[in-house]
Amino acid sequence: MARKKIALIGAGNIGGTLAHLAAIKELGDIVLFDVVEGVPQGKALDLSQCGPIEGFDAKITGSNDYADIAGADVIIVTAGVARKPGMSRDDLLGINLKVMKAVGEGIRNNAPDAFVICITNPLDAMVWALREFSGLPHNKVVGMAGVLDSARFSHFLADEFQVSVRDVNTFVLGGHGDTMVPVVQYSTVAGIPVPDLIKQGRSTKERIDAIVQRTRSGGGEIVALLKTGSAYYAPATSGIAMAEAYLRDQKRLLPCAAYVDGKYGLDGLYVGVPVIIGKDGVEQIVEIELDDEARGNLQVSVDAVKELLDACKGIDESLK
Ligand code: APR
Repeated sequence: MARKKIALIGAGNIGGTLAHLAAIKELGDIVLFDVVEGVPQGKALDLSQCGPIEGFDAKITGSNDYADIAGADVIIVTAGVARKPGMSRDDLLGINLKVMKAVGEGIRNNAPDAFVICITNPLDAMVWALREFSGLPHNKVVGMAGVLDSARFSHFLADEFQVSVRDVNTFVLGGHGDTMVPVVQYSTVAGIPVPDLIKQGRSTKERIDAIVQRTRSGGGEIVALLKTGSAYYAPATSGIAMAEAYLRDQKRLLPCAAYVDGKYGLDGLYVGVPVIIGKDGVEQIVEIELDDEARGNLQVSVDAVKELLDACKGIDESLK
């Protein structure tokens, strides 16, 4: 059986880390694409030289030519600019929208059968625009946000309850911005809901509220520390989990920015919801009952995403 092919559009911090992880996990051969000449080639050579030590056979190449992504099974998009201190994800909109147009066309013309995972921010608007520009089916274009936001939430909760991260299960819905919705009601430690753990006196509502807030601004906390860019290790790990779910038909239920039309009272936009990812891409959107607080917060988040979509339509006529 031929090896799978993974194309990474954007060979920056996340792109390089994605390539490293994909090679170590032997997900397939890897093409790193970037507009900057030399960077994808240099990173590909450096990463290839990990092979003899790690023992992977993945072929890693760098390219500035979209023709080289032809036949890709999975494409992960991180092309664009990342946040600097003081910038919100939304500040990136105008610049990254133009990048999505070029990337969408590159995908449409060279790898229209791929499963595409978008990581570029502002995520919910960029994944929507990328789908529009590429013309791929909605179930084959998805955004990475919820896996990362949930990992941040889980990490903070594991710290709070002094338990292994392996026993913490959380998810975060809504847009990938300050209005995201970490859902406390469905967050558990070994199946025990967080509200029950509060009742047992293992934490307090105030402390959990503070963790929810820290999760919401989790990306900004890292930007403020790094000063020259944004998070990349955990975003890359999250993207790889989604790629692996597709390539290995794992049917994982993950929070992702998916196209929702009908469920959750939404009519055709990308936002973070629980989805099942398998060989057909987004195979199902899972609708869960939310308490009043979570439902209200989700609405606020959806409204924020809609504003971004309107801004995109204002910038690029073809999106109307
Ligand atoms: N086509 C391909 N690559 C591009 C294009 C383009 N039109 N425009 C920019 N790039 C490349 C840059 O040359 C750079 O190598 O995208 C890469 C981005 O890398 P970084 O600046 O290191 O950013 P990174 O940390 O990887 O984040 C990428 O993901 O999480 C989001 O907010 C983040 O939008 C940002 C994206």
